[in-house]
Amino acid sequence: MKFGYFITGTDTGVGKTIVSAAILRGFIKKGLKVGAMKPIETGCLNKDGILLPSDGMFLRDMAEMNDPLDFVTPIKFEHPLSPIVASRLENMDIDLDRIFKVFENLKKKYDYMIVEGIGGLMVPIIKEQKKKTKSFYFVRDLIKDMGLEVIVVSRPSLGTINHTLLTVESLLNKKIPIKGFIINYSIVTKGDIAEKTNPEILSEILDIPLLGILPYLTELNKDNIGDTALKSLDFETLLK
Ligand SMILES: Nc1ncnc2c1ncn2[C@@H]1O[C@H](COP(=O)(O)OP(=O)(O)OP(=O)(O)O)[C@@H](O)[C@H]1O
Ligand SMILES: [Mg+2]
Repeated sequence: MKFGYFITGTDTGVGKTIVSAAILRGFIKKGLKVGAMKPIETGCLNKDGILLPSDGMFLRDMAEMNDPLDFVTPIKFEHPLSPIVASRLENMDIDLDRIFKVFENLKKKYDYMIVEGIGGLMVPIIKEQKKKTKSFYFVRDLIKDMGLEVIVVSRPSLGTINHTLLTVESLLNKKIPIKGFIINYSIVTKGDIAEKTNPEILSEILDIPLLGILPYLTELNKDNIGDTALKSLDFETLLK
């Protein structure tokens, strides 16, 4: 692996999967070999006892991987909850080593790895048993342990300044490197004054670059995602 990014968001539903797909398709259009992971997925559809991770399946398809789905998403739960709560409800422990083992293998195979997070940074994954003090392992710890640089996906609308700054602050606090942030339009909006002014004020406050503004896509197919990505995202910086 030459490069890898962990795609986090200011919240669940901000567009981490679509932005991950955009980066994957852009890299593929540039002739690169890419791999993807959504290491833990909750809210999977249960089809005759088999859990289907929709994000993992979508990313595997977008990256054109031939690896088993279990490599893309090694840990799955049915309940649409944080991993710690879903694992308690479904009586299944989360084995972090499985994630790291698969990741090490995929890293050897691909030039670029794109790893999608679970919700936002402070989503709890497990309670650490060893320590006497209360200690939880969050998505932020997973990022640190995977050793990846982070891309933050933000909403365009009112409220995003606060959420984006809190997310960046939380990463800096743990000395996690940040590549930049991407503003994503997951819904059609009216394009109000907040949306118009948010990119500029965020860029002024933050010391990380705005890597692009991904518009709302009417068609979520490979070509449209790839073409839009190349027009909207800063691949020169992403490839550095
Ligand atoms: N740029 C976009 N154009 C069109 N639809 C989008 C775009 N970004 C996101 N969406 C849609 O918005 C919804 C939420 O986006 P997405 O699934 O990427 O969020 P997420 O951050 O990955 O959520 P989760 O935390 O559940 O993984 C999805 O239905 C997705 O198809
Ligand atoms: Mg997702």
